Formats: sequence, structure tokens, C-alpha cells
Amino acid sequence: MSESAATTSDIRELRRTLGCFATGVTVITTLDAAGQPRGMTANSFTSVSLDPALILVCVAKSAPILAAFETGEGFAVNILEETQRDLSTRFATPSADKFAGVTWLAGVTGAPVLSDTLAYLDCRLHQRIDAGDHVILIGAVADYGRNDASPLLFCRGSYGAIAAETAPDFPAVSAAATVN
Ligand SMILES: Cc1cc2nc3c(=O)[nH]c(=O)nc-3n(C[C@H](O)[C@H](O)[C@H](O)COP(=O)(O)O)c2cc1C
Repeated sequence: MSESAATTSDIRELRRTLGCFATGVTVITTLDAAGQPRGMTANSFTSVSLDPALILVCVAKSAPILAAFETGEGFAVNILEETQRDLSTRFATPSADKFAGVTWLAGVTGAPVLSDTLAYLDCRLHQRIDAGDHVILIGAVADYGRNDASPLLFCRGSYGAIAAETAPDFPAVSAAATVN
């Protein structure tokens, strides 16, 4: 079936199928043309290359924030801890005020690095690839850091965490709040 022939039902089923893939949760951040911090929740993040160090994230063309990522010098990927569901919800909800009360520092690229997350990768925009209804942003990692906290997980529309009592090589997921 061609892409343009997909029905709303097809797309819903495809989203449900893709949602079986468990991921972590990130907030990707940048400065817009006015120098204001912007950010959105993203789980499409993945590593691409170790040498050179490259990562990618996919941003919907329908997201108003996309222009800021395309024009900004760099962007940061902030990987959330299991306690940061509220931060994920905040940055997944359209608002002009997502950064109210959020502590951050400018990273080496100038992109906002959020305080107290599990890890961050501060990147310069390396390549932009047009891909269907999304744009793939490939970032060259300029700086990074991490701590030993547990990650926030996302699978089948729900947040979860690695169960503390399970073996580290086969973690179980305890699901909680469902995202529509
Ligand atoms: C767990 C989770 C993961 C998400 N991942 C992505 C993603 O990878 N790419 C994307 O374009 N939107 C993703 N979204 C949706 C955006 O966060 C949401 O559309 C956001 O409002 C976009 O920011 P804006 O409204 O400021 O443009 C995700 C939402 C959630 C809850």
C-alpha cells in the first residue's frame, strides 16, 4: 500500500505496533531565533555512530518547535530519570511556558541542559534529513554527562521503570500512567 493510501485506522494500528518497542524518554532542547529556550519530549532518540559521535532524533513536521531545532546552532538530548514523568508530560504538552520553574544551564553549544536528569548529550546540528512526516536531526556530540539514577521508560503508551527486584540483565517493566 502506498503511503498516501493509509487510513486513520491503519495509522492507529501502526502506532500501536511501533509502541511495543520500549524506549527511554528524553527532552530535547534548543534556543530559538530569539534566544528563548525551547524543548519537547522525544523517545525517537537513538545512537548512530561512536566515532565520530553521532546521535539522532526524529521531530514531526507538524510540531511548531521544529523550526527552532532547524535554525538553532545545537540541541541537547536530556535523558529522564524514572522520577521525571511530570517533566515528560510538561514538555509533551504544547505551551509557551514549558521552562517555567525548570532549572537549566547553557551547554557548550548554547543549548539548554536541564538540571538533575539521568544523562545529557549536547550536540551540534550535523545533518537534517527529510523523512515522510518527520525530520531526522542528526547531532554531533560535543559534550555529555550522566549519573547513576534509573531511567524513565515508555512502552505501549505508558510510563514505567526497571523493577528493582529483577536481575539487571532482564529487567521487568512496571507500567503506570498511560499517555493518550
Ligand atoms: C513519551 C513521548 C515521546 C514523544 N516522542 C516524540 C518524538 O520522538 N518526536 C516527536 O516529534 N514528538 C514526540 N512526542 C510528542 C511531542 O513531545 C509533542 O508533540 C510536543 O508538544 C511537541 O512540542 P511543541 O508542541 O512545542 O511543538 C512524544 C511525546 C511523548 C509523551
